[in-house]
Amino acid sequence: MVPTGPRGAFLTFEGIDGSGKSTQARRLAEELRAAGRDVVLTREPGGSPGAEEIRNLLLNGDPDRWSAETELLMFTAARRDHVERTIQPALEAGKVVICDRFVDSTRVYQGITRGALRGTVDALHAMMIGIEADLTFLIDMDPEAALARATTRPDAEERFESFGLELQATLREGFLDLARRARRFRVIDGARPAEEIGADVTRIAHSFLETPA
Ligand code: ADP
Ligand code: TYD
Repeated sequence: MVPTGPRGAFLTFEGIDGSGKSTQARRLAEELRAAGRDVVLTREPGGSPGAEEIRNLLLNGDPDRWSAETELLMFTAARRDHVERTIQPALEAGKVVICDRFVDSTRVYQGITRGALRGTVDALHAMMIGIEADLTFLIDMDPEAALARATTRPDAEERFESFGLELQATLREGFLDLARRARRFRVIDGARPAEEIGADVTRIAHSFLETPA
C-alpha cells in the first residue's frame, strides 16, 4: 500500500504495557489540535470497526487457542483493515495520524516472545502493510513500575497483561533494540510526571512536523 497524493504525517507511540503510551498519545492529539492541526487519534490492535472485532478476539479468551503464527496473522489482518480504512485515507487527506502501537509492537511481541517469528513479521509486513511511521515515540521505563500501573488500571484486558516482569523486561530490550536501528525513533524517559513527558513529546512533534527529517 504505497501512499499517493498529498500526505500528512504518521506518528506512533510504542512501549511496554503501562508505560503511558495511551496517555501521551491523547495528550499529543489535544496539543496538535489546539495548534490547529487536523488529527486522527487511533490505536492497535483496532482502530477501524473490523480491526476492533479482531482486537476482541485477540485480547479476550484463552491465549493458547491459537498458535503464535495464527496470532501473528490476526494482528496483521487487523492492521491491514486499519491501514486501509483509517490510516491511509487520513494520511492522503493530509492529516496527522497518531497511533497507539503499530508494527513495532508486532516485531517485539510476536517477533521475540512467542517463538522466533521476527523474519516472518517483517516479511508479512512488507507483503501486506508496507508503511512505517514517520516518527515513533518509544516511551521507555522500568517494567516493574510500568507493570504496577498496568495492573491497577480498571480496563486492563487480561490477555496480554498477565505477562509478568521477566517478559516485560525482554520486551523493553526489544523496543530499545529497534530504536537503535531506525532513525524515526525518539526514546522518551517514561518514569516522570505525565506533564513533563508530554512537554518533551509535544516539542519533538512540533519540530518534526515543521521540518520533517
Ligand atoms: P499504556 O497505554 O502504555 O498501557 P497508559 O497511558 O494507559 O499506558 O497508562 C497506564 C496507567 O498509568 C494509567 O492508569 C495512567 O493514568 C497512568 N499513567 C500514565 N502516565 C503516567 C505517568 N507519567 N505517571 C504516572 N502514572 C501515569
Ligand atoms: P494495548 O491495548 O495497547 O495495551 P496497553 O495499553 O496495555 O499497552 O495492547 C494490547 C496488547 O496487545 C498489549 O499487551 C500488546 C499486544 N500487542 C501485540 O502483542 N502485538 C501487536 O502487534 C500489538 C499492536 C499489540
